[in-house]
Amino acid sequence: MTDFITSTEIDAAADFIRARTRYRPEVGLILGSGLNSLADTIESPDVIPTGDIPNWPKSTVPGHVGRLVIGQLEERAVLVLQGRTHFYEGYGLDRVTLPIRVMARLGIGALIVTNAAGGLNPAYEPGDLMLIRDHLNFPGMAGNNPLRGPNDDTFGVRFPDMTKPYDAELRALAHRVAADAGFTLHEGVYAYVGGPSFETPAELRFLQLVGGDAVGMSTAPEVVVARHAGLRVLGISTIANPALPDPTPGTVLTHDEVLEMGLRAVPRLIQVVRGVVRG
Ligand code: HPA
Repeated sequence: MTDFITSTEIDAAADFIRARTRYRPEVGLILGSGLNSLADTIESPDVIPTGDIPNWPKSTVPGHVGRLVIGQLEERAVLVLQGRTHFYEGYGLDRVTLPIRVMARLGIGALIVTNAAGGLNPAYEPGDLMLIRDHLNFPGMAGNNPLRGPNDDTFGVRFPDMTKPYDAELRALAHRVAADAGFTLHEGVYAYVGGPSFETPAELRFLQLVGGDAVGMSTAPEVVVARHAGLRVLGISTIANPALPDPTPGTVLTHDEVLEMGLRAVPRLIQVVRGVVRG
C-alpha cells in the first residue's frame, strides 16, 4: 500500500505548534486566495511560518503566504491558516488535509473555511459571498477522497456520515450577522474540481446541470476530514469571477483576476467571520 500520513506525523506538527503559542485555539480559519488580509485583524498573534512545521505541506501558489497566525479575534482564541495547499500542487490529499487533523489535535471545535470560487449561478456577481450549504466532491466521488487509506480511529469512523457537512446553526448565524450589517449572503452548492486548468464551457454546463452554484479547487477535502473528526464547519465562497458556459465574448480567466476580485469581498467577509466567532 502507498504510504499515507501517520498519526505520529500529525502529532509532531501539533506538538511543534503547541510549543510555539500562548494560545489554545478554539476556532480554525482557513483563508482562500486573495483573502490574506483577514489575518491582519488577529490581535497579539503568535506567527508560525508553515515552512518550519514538521510534515506540513508547503504552499506553492501566488497569493498563498504560508503562515499560521494564532491569536485573539472577538476575544476568542483562533488559529488562522494563511496559505492552504491544493491537490493540483502535487500533494496527496492526506497531506493537503494534514492541517485540519492538526487543528483537531489542538482541540479546535469549529472550522471556518473560505475560498475564491467561480460563480456558476447566473444570479451571482463577482464580489458576492456565498455560504456553502453542501458540496459536490468530484475527485472524491472518483476515488480521490482524503480519507482513502487506513482509517485513523482516533479521528473518526471508517465510513463517516456526510449528510450535514456544513453546520446549519453556523449558517443561520452568518445570515443574521450579514443582515445586521446590511447585506445578504447567497447560499449554495460548491462544486469541487481538481484543477489547475479552469473549466471548459461543457464542464461548466455540466456543473450547473448537476446543481453547482460555485466552482473551485479547494475546501471539499478539508471539510470531509473536518467532519470525519467531528468539527463543526462553516464554508464561505467569495465569488471571484463568473463561471458561465457562454462567457462575454473576448473574456479570458486568469489567476490574477481571481485574486483581484476576491479582494472586493474581503471587508464583508471579515464582518461575517467576526460576527460568527463572536457567536
Ligand atoms: N473555476 C475553478 N476554480 C476557481 C474559479 C473558477 O472559475 N475561480 C476561482 N477559483
